[in-house]
Amino acid sequence: MNTWMEEKGTPEGTDTLLQSIFAHISDAVMVVDRNGIIVAVNAAMERMSGWSEDELVGNKHLCEVCVGMATCQEEKSCVDCFFKRAQLPSFEMRLKTKDGREYPVAASSTTLPDAPDGKKVMILRDMSMQQRMEKERYQHKLTHFVIQAQEEERKRISRELHDGIGQALYSILVGLNVLSHGKLSGPMKQHVADIQQMTAKAMEEAKRMALELRPSALDDLGLLPALRSLIKRVEKSFGLTVDLHVHGGWSRHSAAVETALYRIVQEAMTNTAKYAQARALGIVFEEREKELVVTVVDDGTGFDVEQAERNGSGLGLFGMKERAQLLGGSFDIRSVIGEGTTVIVRIPRPKEEAKDGHTRLDR
Ligand SMILES: Nc1ncnc2c1ncn2[C@@H]1O[C@H](COP(=O)(O)OP(=O)(O)OP(=O)(O)O)[C@@H](O)[C@H]1O
Ligand SMILES: [Mg+2]
Repeated sequence: MNTWMEEKGTPEGTDTLLQSIFAHISDAVMVVDRNGIIVAVNAAMERMSGWSEDELVGNKHLCEVCVGMATCQEEKSCVDCFFKRAQLPSFEMRLKTKDGREYPVAASSTTLPDAPDGKKVMILRDMSMQQRMEKERYQHKLTHFVIQAQEEERKRISRELHDGIGQALYSILVGLNVLSHGKLSGPMKQHVADIQQMTAKAMEEAKRMALELRPSALDDLGLLPALRSLIKRVEKSFGLTVDLHVHGGWSRHSAAVETALYRIVQEAMTNTAKYAQARALGIVFEEREKELVVTVVDDGTGFDVEQAERNGSGLGLFGMKERAQLLGGSFDIRSVIGEGTTVIVRIPRPKEEAKDGHTRLDR
């Protein structure tokens, strides 16, 4: 690169400044001649492409490091190539590295008007990090909408089950009760009793499903009463002893926080019941000045967390993490084979809440 700059000749001192910028700028710079042969590169271009200056300069054609321009339709296309234009101030291209990777760069290309042989200078900025961040942001947004929509739908179906089917079954049961007290023949009495029993069972089932989908206590009474009722059901169904401990006190929080914590504890409890062969499960709620901390500990078999995450067989661990992260919090799971598993969730408290505090509901 020195040769061309020196050839050009600039006011005294400017050469050194230009050379220093060329050498140290974090964007990759590449100069190509009118045939597309690379004639100069800076250090950032060497880093970005993986090729050394010697390998590139005089030895490589532009098309060997560029796999095309990105358009709205295609990720790489050579139609309307920037090289055919005198100037293109901003476009996206895909750079091909020495080790065969391809990644997006934001580029600009200018033909230097007073450079010999119509040389073009190209400036390339690595976009892979920005694109990754954008993708992650988009995925978080999407997950947020999915979780929200799922909760809304669960709420709706739960209400329908409770108020619609549940009420209808109750009316049928009342009718059957009246019928059973009337004058009925022996076989008919038995028949009505059977239907009564089936209806009562269906009613129980509808109630259980409504509760599982979304307990109304969560909205009406808050997280702790809803969890206590869930704990009773888990203890009864799985023969597990669950100890719920509230450290200090616990207030009511936003619906988003209460729902997230309910679902996280629910999933942790279900996992323990399903896989851990645990005898006991402890849940601790702690309201600190700046954050809410919930810990769920079991004394079960433990498991290899990394492997489970790699296998990605279920959605439970992923969902717990997503829910915590969506509220700006964190989710940690530690497990020791033979000793058990601990889940720790931290959710930051909104500033006003941390300052004013809430009515303590549970001491
Ligand atoms: N407390 C635990 N004790 C022992 N193993 C556990 C525990 N929690 C999770 N695991 C293991 O981690 C795996 C992944 O759990 P995760 O909740 O993500 O998925 P899942 O429960 O299999 O499916 P899903 O939650 O989607 O119904 C489980 O299959 C189980 O092997
Ligand atoms: Mg699970």
